[in-house]
Amino acid sequence: MTTQDNRTAAAPAAQGWTKAGWRAYPRVQMPDYTDPAALQAVEAQLGKFPPLVFAGEVRRLKAQLADVSRGKGFLLQGGDCAESFAEFSADNIRDTFKVMLQMAVVLTWGAQMPVIKVGRMAGQFAKPRSAPTEVLGGVELPSYRGDIINGFDFTPEARIPDPQRMLAAYTQAAASLNLLRAFSTGGYADMHRVQSWIADFVGGPEAAKYREVADRIGDAMAFMAAAGVTAETAHDLGQVDFYTSHESLLLEYEEALARTDSTTGLPVAGSGHMIWIGDRTRQPDGAHVEFARGVQNPIGLKTGPTTTAEDLKVLMAKLNPENEAGRLTLIARFGAGKVGDHLPRLVKAVQEEGANVVWSCDPMHGNTIKSATGYKTRPFDSVLREVREFFAIHKAEGTVPGGVHFEMTGQDVTECTGGVRAVTDEDLSDRYHTACDPRLNASQSLELAFLVAEELRDRRQNGGASQQAKAG
Ligand code: PEP
Ligand code: CO
Repeated sequence: MTTQDNRTAAAPAAQGWTKAGWRAYPRVQMPDYTDPAALQAVEAQLGKFPPLVFAGEVRRLKAQLADVSRGKGFLLQGGDCAESFAEFSADNIRDTFKVMLQMAVVLTWGAQMPVIKVGRMAGQFAKPRSAPTEVLGGVELPSYRGDIINGFDFTPEARIPDPQRMLAAYTQAAASLNLLRAFSTGGYADMHRVQSWIADFVGGPEAAKYREVADRIGDAMAFMAAAGVTAETAHDLGQVDFYTSHESLLLEYEEALARTDSTTGLPVAGSGHMIWIGDRTRQPDGAHVEFARGVQNPIGLKTGPTTTAEDLKVLMAKLNPENEAGRLTLIARFGAGKVGDHLPRLVKAVQEEGANVVWSCDPMHGNTIKSATGYKTRPFDSVLREVREFFAIHKAEGTVPGGVHFEMTGQDVTECTGGVRAVTDEDLSDRYHTACDPRLNASQSLELAFLVAEELRDRRQNGGASQQAKAG
């Protein structure tokens, strides 16, 4: 690896890469479409549609993530496990966006740095599954793989992969992005407004323990307003940068939306600003890595208990041969109690290569359990514990804990247990709406932001000694 670290220069074209080149590599977790002509017709149509995101935005996000990798920013990535056609509505998008903004304000206070906001939104439709089939009441059917591939209903017809679904997903993603762009710039994101939502949250008796932090954020906002800094005078306070991301799983869709950046002449995934490679599809010689290596977007790479140091080194060399800062985000997802077993060895691998990466913590996917009442859930305490362990280990290693990655929604669902408005095992059946993994609800998400903000503040003020104690 070279040590180029120039935020404006694009990396050169990936050697021997074409957008269809992945087709020659082993693929996993992808559907076998039964009607090749129908598939080709959809691909051709998508190929003519406008990209959903633009190369300049992608470059801007990469530059911001480069700052994160240097400890000069913090990444907040969050949203649905799986977006669904049935749950698509303006209210749902607005509410998730709203909670992300609240979390970002709280994290900004904790980190005293810019918080880069990236939604698992406007494209997060395809799901890897742990088993190819599902059995229910003695009937075995192909697993549900996300609305872009097949249907959630437990019927043989619904579970047939249908390429037309890619067109519906594109349309939903385009409409979602249209709304997100409007919310980001149209006054909805005004910092003062966001702060008043936070004040509402801590106004209740359960969340009183976060009131002091909320009050201090309020004081800072009041001071700025008194000094004449408002959304009217400082345009930036009234608008935010909000980016989209998803797992780059369905490569026919990704290929069809890949475009050439007219400024650099290099390929860009047009399906979302940031794409990531999942824990089940990160084979160094597999199709998913092959596709991602050639597009200029920031790439996320899930790293789990089975990621070896050797594989990580090969993956870093393939996905970021020029060692461009901001290009690669390692999304660690080990499970509470296991971070200490794995993160230090992977941090060491990164250091041995002198690699520029953003380290982000996904405390969701290693903490999924089956509740006593039979629901797939995640205990809030385990989620929090993994975050604390992540911070503690980065402190011990002298590396930068750069971000967090959550499955969350703005809706008042009951999918994860715990939190100040304690959701119990028995409550799970009340409002369990996820199409895939259990999500934090609005209150749990904001609570987590307060707790991460405390870790960030410790990192700044005490050099993080108290985090190690907490994680120990
Ligand atoms: C996900 O992010 O929804 C996911 C499937 O994660 P992972 O690949 O880490 O299991
Ligand atoms: Co998930």
